[in-house]
Amino acid sequence: MGRLADRRVVLGVAGGIAAYKAVEVCRRLVDAGAHVTPVLTAAATRFVGPLTFSALASEDAHVALFDGPDAIPHTRLGQQADVIVVAPATARVIAAYVAGLSDDLLTATLLATRAPVIICPAMHTEMWEHPAVQDNLSVLRRRGVHIVEPEAGRLAGGDVGMGRLADADRIIAAVERALTAPDLGGLRVLVTAGGTREPIDPVRFIGNRSSGKQGHAVAEEAAHRGAKVVLVTTTDRATTAGVDVIRVDTAAEMADAVFARSEEADVVVMAAAVADFKPSTTRDRKIKKSDGIPEVVLEPTVDILAELGRRKRAGQVIVGFAAETHDVRANARRKLEDKRVDLVVANDVAEPGAGFEHDTNRVLLIGRDGTDVDVPMSDKREVARAILDVVAPRKGMA
Ligand code: PMT
Repeated sequence: MGRLADRRVVLGVAGGIAAYKAVEVCRRLVDAGAHVTPVLTAAATRFVGPLTFSALASEDAHVALFDGPDAIPHTRLGQQADVIVVAPATARVIAAYVAGLSDDLLTATLLATRAPVIICPAMHTEMWEHPAVQDNLSVLRRRGVHIVEPEAGRLAGGDVGMGRLADADRIIAAVERALTAPDLGGLRVLVTAGGTREPIDPVRFIGNRSSGKQGHAVAEEAAHRGAKVVLVTTTDRATTAGVDVIRVDTAAEMADAVFARSEEADVVVMAAAVADFKPSTTRDRKIKKSDGIPEVVLEPTVDILAELGRRKRAGQVIVGFAAETHDVRANARRKLEDKRVDLVVANDVAEPGAGFEHDTNRVLLIGRDGTDVDVPMSDKREVARAILDVVAPRKGMA
């Protein structure tokens, strides 16, 4: 038996056509040794009868706050759960959870728990892409909720598009990960995030489109797994408690902040998009259009990652990123060698949905030890998990 043996799993099922797939998730969890309590919303029972879940799960399916033998079922379920997984999660359940509404047993249980929560959205493409749904998911991500992204494929009514419930394998893997003990406890992890800004004059700069989402996700996941985390970031994004934030703007400031802390770090993850060039001089007054087209002479910035590779001490793990638009694997291997790092996280930033600004990313993990992992298009927090899953055993932490 694996990580799921004897763990108490609340399986929330909301009202969507994908509710029938939750039956398979339920069976797989039970087969893996988990104690599974299904909690169905009223709408879910329109798609699949509670009896089906009761027959498969470890206890009868719960469908109402008030009608069962328990006076306060949501607190018992929430407090006893080791993990709660909602599959499928509809737009309504997601919105209620974000807003802290507890108008049925499932949403009340979600509020009455301190256990990790996994949300597996499934809905029509138009709903999935609606800013209200995406904003709500961003809020949940910031709160540390695990989101298992839906997939593209056939939807109800014969439509095809994004919004199909994730495959049962991915949902089970997310549950297993959520139940993983804090495997980075005691580690000091230094992460960089965001794009640097190299000033031309007081109002203009050379910059890039990095939002900091990927780097912040790595920092937050490392903190969630017990590491002591310092995040050097160019963005004002909110982050979770337990992450020590240092705000910088330029490549030089980032270099100073990183080098001041890299010696004591066990793991350094350079997710930031650091400018390769900066203006050789910065004007102290705004360049006037009336003065004609200015000449901006560039000079190289310090290559922080390469310097970290040179300074690397025994036992330290250095992770670099590679933002590529072609020959991703070959370029990643070259960066691995050139910069003498342990692992390169390579993303094809030309791929729709991957790289700069998106909530999702698709990466290749190429390691000096032969690691070669293709992480499919996933939420950036999932990508962060995959990176740290590779790092943890190297530090003897898993
Ligand atoms: O921030 P998001 O919007 O979430 O987007 C995420 C991302 C696309 C920025 C991220 O996934 C990513 O790819 N980060 C690295 C971007 C980058 O600068 O790639 P690069 O191939 O140019 O650099 C290679 C590595 O060297 C990177 O680890 C970079 O941090 C580092 N570097 C680069 C230049 C420099 N002067 N110093 C450095 O340390």
